[in-house]
Amino acid sequence: MSNAPVDNGRRRFLTIATSVVGGVGAAGAAVPFIASWSPSERAKSAGAPVEVDISKLEPGQLIRVEWRGKPVWVVFRTPKMLEQMKVHEGQLRDPASDEPQQLDSAKNPYRSKRPEIFVAVGICTHLGCSPSFLQGGFGEKVEGTEDGFFCPCHGSKFDMAGRVFQSVPAPLNLEVPPYTFIDDTTIIIGEEEGVA
Ligand code: FES
Repeated sequence: MSNAPVDNGRRRFLTIATSVVGGVGAAGAAVPFIASWSPSERAKSAGAPVEVDISKLEPGQLIRVEWRGKPVWVVFRTPKMLEQMKVHEGQLRDPASDEPQQLDSAKNPYRSKRPEIFVAVGICTHLGCSPSFLQGGFGEKVEGTEDGFFCPCHGSKFDMAGRVFQSVPAPLNLEVPPYTFIDDTTIIIGEEEGVA
């Protein structure tokens, strides 16, 4: 966990945070609600960064927020999810995130700044549908892997790092947006450390 001090001056725009889902695979599971508020319309239209409080996010949960009109996911991956990602590397199209779409922060085995916290734009790289989070139900799509994201439009499959599987229509991994941790439990989506 980062010990970076909170820079309140950077909290220019309040976030959204949103509903938290435990995954479609956990059908019928309770859908806890954390909070919901929005930046101003002016801030949104300007593409402002948004601040996300992940203090109540629990292992296995996913928060959806909106940034620049796009859905952005923040997922708390469990140790088991992280282990699974090693199993299917040979079935992925771009396992090391070599495609030039990637920010440097996505070029590591977990495609994230902290292994347990995954941040991605929740838009399929095929034709822009929104993939579903299949927690515990992804094994029907990829044997040996219980959790992942499945796009219902044309069947693209992505693992828990948003890495696309082979033999599906989506050409690229899910996009990782610019983001920065400003403290242990707060992320700014839309700002990347060291990138102007
Ligand atoms: S839009 Fe996702 S598979 Fe086509």
